[in-house]
Amino acid sequence: MTLPTLKIKDLEAKLPIIQGGMAVRISLAPLAAAVANEGGIGLIAASGITPDELQKHIRQARDMSKGIIGINVMVAVRQFADLVKTALAEKIDIVVAGAGFSRDIFGWCKSAGIAVAPVVSSERLAKLAEKFGADAIIVEGKEAGGHLGTNESIKALLPRIIDAVKIPVIAAGGIISGSDIYNTLKTGAKGVQIGTRFGMSKESSASEMMKQTWLEAKGSIVTGMSPTDMPSRAIDSTEMEDMPKVGDKTKCVMCLKNCSHRDERIKFCIIKALENAQEGDVEHGLIFCGERVGEIEDILTVKEIIDNFKEEYLKCSKMGTSHCAG
Ligand SMILES: Cc1cc2nc3c(=O)[nH]c(=O)nc-3n(C[C@H](O)[C@H](O)[C@H](O)COP(=O)(O)O)c2cc1C
Repeated sequence: MTLPTLKIKDLEAKLPIIQGGMAVRISLAPLAAAVANEGGIGLIAASGITPDELQKHIRQARDMSKGIIGINVMVAVRQFADLVKTALAEKIDIVVAGAGFSRDIFGWCKSAGIAVAPVVSSERLAKLAEKFGADAIIVEGKEAGGHLGTNESIKALLPRIIDAVKIPVIAAGGIISGSDIYNTLKTGAKGVQIGTRFGMSKESSASEMMKQTWLEAKGSIVTGMSPTDMPSRAIDSTEMEDMPKVGDKTKCVMCLKNCSHRDERIKFCIIKALENAQEGDVEHGLIFCGERVGEIEDILTVKEIIDNFKEEYLKCSKMGTSHCAG
């Protein structure tokens, strides 16, 4: 059995795979288009870039692919509304909103006739999102890279959320292989969102230094609070113990609506720290990664990654078990 399609509103992706949005400037047009060309949904990360830069990347992705292209934007960023409105004006296919919960986004997307899928980590927010008009929800477990809304594993969270809503549920966090996809879909999820594995691809816009750091990573840690007031999962390195050393307060770029940067204990700018990592200054950067980063041993093209997923998935379906060890 081949991988099923993923239906969200009037979109139908050939593969049930969303490439998670990765800020700052990690998932841009080249990565999103490559995933869309393979039949998945490619997301351009909008947080930390300007609306003009986002518009350029949406247009570039459209030139590179006829597949499904969306954006991901963190609710916490100051330019949230402008970024979403830019994407809607460009007739983006889908808007995914992470790192916070916005009520406004449902009305904006509905008026534009565009699919909307928030990232949630609790039954309460899943139900609320459905009530406000979400077309799907992405459920992130504690294994996910980036900001975290829970300390529960995706395995524990997923069945409860699937029971709680009728809209398609997409699972995220710690999915790195075709057998993971198989097992996740067996639980009743309609799709998966994958971050780290796609970050570690040839088409990702992370610097070579950042890709090398991911490759050498032995594991990940849940950091203390980020200036967004949420914990996050990032590379476990000695530098990370104290968080990035970008803490000079004068470097604030006013990126968040409400920033704990002014808090004495959190002395770094989140967007600047992510930007440093993407540009290769890993010592002063925050390198988000999923819990299973240490198991990924290569930087492949998106086509190679997806071909592997298909092959591993096929092997599992031939075995026909409810849980496939891979
Ligand atoms: C480097 C990196 C940057 C991320 N940036 C964002 C982001 O801007 N917005 C967001 O909603 N999620 C972000 N995430 C989370 C991913 O979209 C995805 O849900 C998560 O990585 C899934 O877990 P996995 O990495 O184990 O596959 C980021 C993750 C990583 C690894």
